[in-house]
Amino acid sequence: MRRLSLILLTIVCVFLAAIAPVRSQRPRDVEQRVNALLAQMTLEEKLGQLQQLDGEGNGNFRPEHLELIRKGLLGSTLNVRGAQRTNQVQRVAMNESRLKIPVLFGFDVIHGYRTIFPIPLAEASSWDPLLAERSAAVAAQEANNVGLRWTFAPMVDIARDPRWGRITEGAGEDPFLGAAFARARVRGFQGVDYSAPDKVLACAKHYVAYGAAEGGRDYNTTDLSENTLREIYFPPFKAAVDAGVGTLMSAFNAINGVPASANAFTLTKVLRDEWKFDGFVVSDYTSVKELINHGVAANEEEAAALALNAGVEMEMVSRSYNTFGPRLLQQNKLTMARIDEAVRRVLRIKFRLGLFDQPYTDEAREPNALLRPESIRLAREIAGRSMVLLKNDREALPLSKSVGSIAVIGSLADDRRAPLGWWAGDGKEENTVTPLAGIKAKVSAQTKVGYAKGCDVKDDSTAGFDEAVNLAKQSDLAILFVGETADMVGEAASRSTLDLPGRQMELVQAIHAVGKPTVVVLVNGRPLSVGWIANNVPAILESWMGGSESGNAIADILFGDVNPSAKLPVTFPRSVGQVPMYYNYMNTGRPPEAENRYTSKYFDMPWTPLFPFGHGLSYTKFKITNLQLSAPRIDANGKLTVSVDVENVGARAGDEVVQLYIRDPVATMTRPVKELKGFQRVSLQPGQKRRVEFVLDREHLGFWNREMRYVVEPGEFRVMVGSSSADVIDARFEVAG
Ligand code: BGC
Repeated sequence: MRRLSLILLTIVCVFLAAIAPVRSQRPRDVEQRVNALLAQMTLEEKLGQLQQLDGEGNGNFRPEHLELIRKGLLGSTLNVRGAQRTNQVQRVAMNESRLKIPVLFGFDVIHGYRTIFPIPLAEASSWDPLLAERSAAVAAQEANNVGLRWTFAPMVDIARDPRWGRITEGAGEDPFLGAAFARARVRGFQGVDYSAPDKVLACAKHYVAYGAAEGGRDYNTTDLSENTLREIYFPPFKAAVDAGVGTLMSAFNAINGVPASANAFTLTKVLRDEWKFDGFVVSDYTSVKELINHGVAANEEEAAALALNAGVEMEMVSRSYNTFGPRLLQQNKLTMARIDEAVRRVLRIKFRLGLFDQPYTDEAREPNALLRPESIRLAREIAGRSMVLLKNDREALPLSKSVGSIAVIGSLADDRRAPLGWWAGDGKEENTVTPLAGIKAKVSAQTKVGYAKGCDVKDDSTAGFDEAVNLAKQSDLAILFVGETADMVGEAASRSTLDLPGRQMELVQAIHAVGKPTVVVLVNGRPLSVGWIANNVPAILESWMGGSESGNAIADILFGDVNPSAKLPVTFPRSVGQVPMYYNYMNTGRPPEAENRYTSKYFDMPWTPLFPFGHGLSYTKFKITNLQLSAPRIDANGKLTVSVDVENVGARAGDEVVQLYIRDPVATMTRPVKELKGFQRVSLQPGQKRRVEFVLDREHLGFWNREMRYVVEPGEFRVMVGSSSADVIDARFEVAG
């Protein structure tokens, strides 16, 4: 008996040891090791840990890096990658530098490293955070195997202005959905222990309000109330911090006159004092030096003092800390305590990453780590769940695989670069399935698939129109691919219009005029104003930029192997003139009314969007009925259960994303007309019905009042449940005083 207990005890101990964090991860241990190391560091070595420099291009380091590392003057690089190369650099740090502090290798692994997943805005359209977690996990696994330990992701900026090209990198316009995706992506990249060999350190960016850039012009200034910051722009960052994100990146923009990279309110008061963040903040690319252009620092020396004192620990690319740190210290413009605190945060993360114990990457693993069959399968699955069926009149879709002939039209049908989108990691065009290839692989052997470009996305030539029109005339149906190229979205890709670029709209009109059944597939990284198409073409699929497997996923949907289930995470305006346009707008004294001129709207166009937030169709039909509340009245700290029946009343199996919104109609401050506070994806067979439940509590019902206190105010609330923000059933309840 005693022997048995002993064996059992041993098994339990071995098991516990196996699941326990590695030695370097134990919090007390980490702090001791950090302090012991810090005590040995010279001022120059300390400042060196706060420096990050860019590589030479193509993943190479610069020769200068090795020299700096040898002297202990460089803590991190960006863009340097490849197991062999990072090991080469690391060997200098571990063998030739005085204190043997490993280098931290960072890179923008935003939606995949080599296997490219849909752009983040598309993944958010799945309304399925678990999918984003799984894609981030694949990205982390691939990245780790090429020597990277840190990704500058997730990008969690809320964006209400589709002119801003970087709307493509985030989860859209809503803080609740954005927070869910922020959490999921942090979990996917970091796992429970980011020292694991298939994980990387994450970085929530761009802190903060970068998405509020005035006019949608990238890098522009922002002017926001603290309420808006706390209720709209902070939540995804707070969610990332709560999920354990190790780092944040300070943004380029100014917030109410104070640049985000010198903003003590956001970086210290909120992030550290309120949210208890204990990792470090890296600046965005040269954003420390850019404080001079902002006009808050006269020179680099002042810029360094402002940024470091505000809470930016690591400086990306510019070298103000290193150059001017010693002088600032002498002049008492910087204290050793602040420098130590910054270095402590950087070292803490390096220890937690296990970098000191495992500084190298196993070079033998790299070739088998990329584009694994299961990763490619997942990319296809996620792409299929990220594409939004915007319109499908008279069941124009799905198409039959045995149709006689198809005209595939538009340069984006045969573009290998566009599906990869912006920040495509090390994704390769040769590993990308185009829509044309996807369609060819899907249809029957007898089906003739013809292709005509028609026109390019950007230029003005219509020389290819005749060929495209003739092809459509000779075919049973036409599938048109129109939208944006990869370089029209992302950083520094703000657009002044949301129209289809070039002559593409005319191409659609010319093909539509042929009179054959026509489907439009949009390939784009931001909402587009495609009113003519919405009014005239029976079927529209929003494919976004769907990653390596985009073409296969599009074909899966067009031909009915996958039933679309995605929903827009962002509003599609009818015209750029309506921007900013978002579903959770504040109530006004004159809410918009179609028939009343003296209400808040434009008189020359309907006040509603082209496609509302949360919109997305399926090949089957769902009914949401029987909304019930667990109580007519709760108190401010109480809980309310909201439930509905969801029924598949169509003929195919499918998923519905059930969305819950609330409204606080009378409060001490104006409140949004709707706020998303819950969503659930439900899979149902034809005829199947399920009860779906949501729980609302204090976290969902409150807001930041005029005294900047989070309060749940008594009174009546409206709760709405439906299949989009514009298609809901509702009920009322009361919060007791
Ligand atoms: C972008 C960041 C990115 C960084 C490093 C900057 O220009 O704003 O999002 O992480 O470059 O590549």
